Amino acid sequence: MTDAVKIIATGSFLPEKTLTNDQIAEFVDTSHQWIVDRTGIHSRHLVSEGETVKDISIKAAKDVLKNAGLKASDIDAVFIATCAPNSGFPSVASHVQTELGIRGPGMDIAAACGGFIYTAFTAERWMTHQKWNKVLVVGAETLSSYINWENRGTCVLFGDGAGAVILERQSGDPKQSRGFIDFHIGGSGIDKELLYGDNENGAEMNGREVFKHAVREMQNSCDTLLSRNHYKTEDIDFVVAHQANQRIIDAIGKQMKLPEDKMISTIATHANTSAASIPLALHASNQKGLFKNGDLIVTAAFGAGFTWGGALLRW
Ligand SMILES: CC(C)(COP(=O)(O)OP(=O)(O)OC[C@H]1O[C@@H](n2cnc3c(N)ncnc32)[C@H](O)[C@@H]1OP(=O)(O)O)[C@@H](O)C(=O)NCCC(=O)NCCS
Repeated sequence: MTDAVKIIATGSFLPEKTLTNDQIAEFVDTSHQWIVDRTGIHSRHLVSEGETVKDISIKAAKDVLKNAGLKASDIDAVFIATCAPNSGFPSVASHVQTELGIRGPGMDIAAACGGFIYTAFTAERWMTHQKWNKVLVVGAETLSSYINWENRGTCVLFGDGAGAVILERQSGDPKQSRGFIDFHIGGSGIDKELLYGDNENGAEMNGREVFKHAVREMQNSCDTLLSRNHYKTEDIDFVVAHQANQRIIDAIGKQMKLPEDKMISTIATHANTSAASIPLALHASNQKGLFKNGDLIVTAAFGAGFTWGGALLRW
């Protein structure tokens, strides 16, 4: 019998502070309407002074444990997807473990907006190899710390937040019951001209080029996952794509000929939260009761690096 690794609970933490498009228009030359038309974003959450990626990861981790009805001692390992760690060492995962009292291995994975897919894939493979039963995976970002607030081309796009899932391993065939069926993982190496960010210079991006790459690679991940597992687009219940731009999500839906209600969207209030965007979208959908056990879901992400990938799963 094979192992099936499934998501048994979701959780999140969104910082209290919010920033609307109108508020951004007070300090750069933009407008609410431009931002909504070009991105679908209305507002975003931002960490406050002194609030770090470690703090929001801990809060999302506590939320998902509560939602799962689990104790820290039930968790075998902790994986954090982030490209905004608040200190060199130890990892954000170690801080989460210390705060929650989780023993066992922990590590961070930095793959920018592709981070949750890379991290879920790593966790799933380690779980089946090590025969771990339950693992905590968090996607957490405070990209506001990388933003040049004078650059209207990028400062309107990003938000902060943390999303979390608990993965559980059981015997079974995920195609028949629940769990990850397959992952698709890709990447290409740095092109600084296209998408790059650091604490000193902020984020720099060639939006048009990144847009084209993002649609192509997320589309390819979805198509590859479906075709190599003998599914058709009609079999899909929901697509949970990385929330970078509503027009990217719409383009993927259009190419796959899927109706709008199958394309999960949280971008209006979350903006682009990088590695947190997919677990935040999973949690928001789960809270609304959108997903039923056994639903076929495809996720896809694309980010700086470039990194990209997707996961096919039965909820
Ligand atoms: C960034 C993005 C929203 C810009 O939208 P776009 O339609 O490509 O717009 P452009 O960059 O071509 O800019 C069009 C015009 O709007 C202007 N503009 C840029 N940002 C603006 C803003 N915030 N407000 C008003 N005008 C703005 C530009 O200066 C340009 O003006 P010009 O025509 O006079 O030169 C879009 O390209 C995008 O979402 N790209 C992908 C982002 C992404 O996925 N990033 C992360 C991957 S993880």
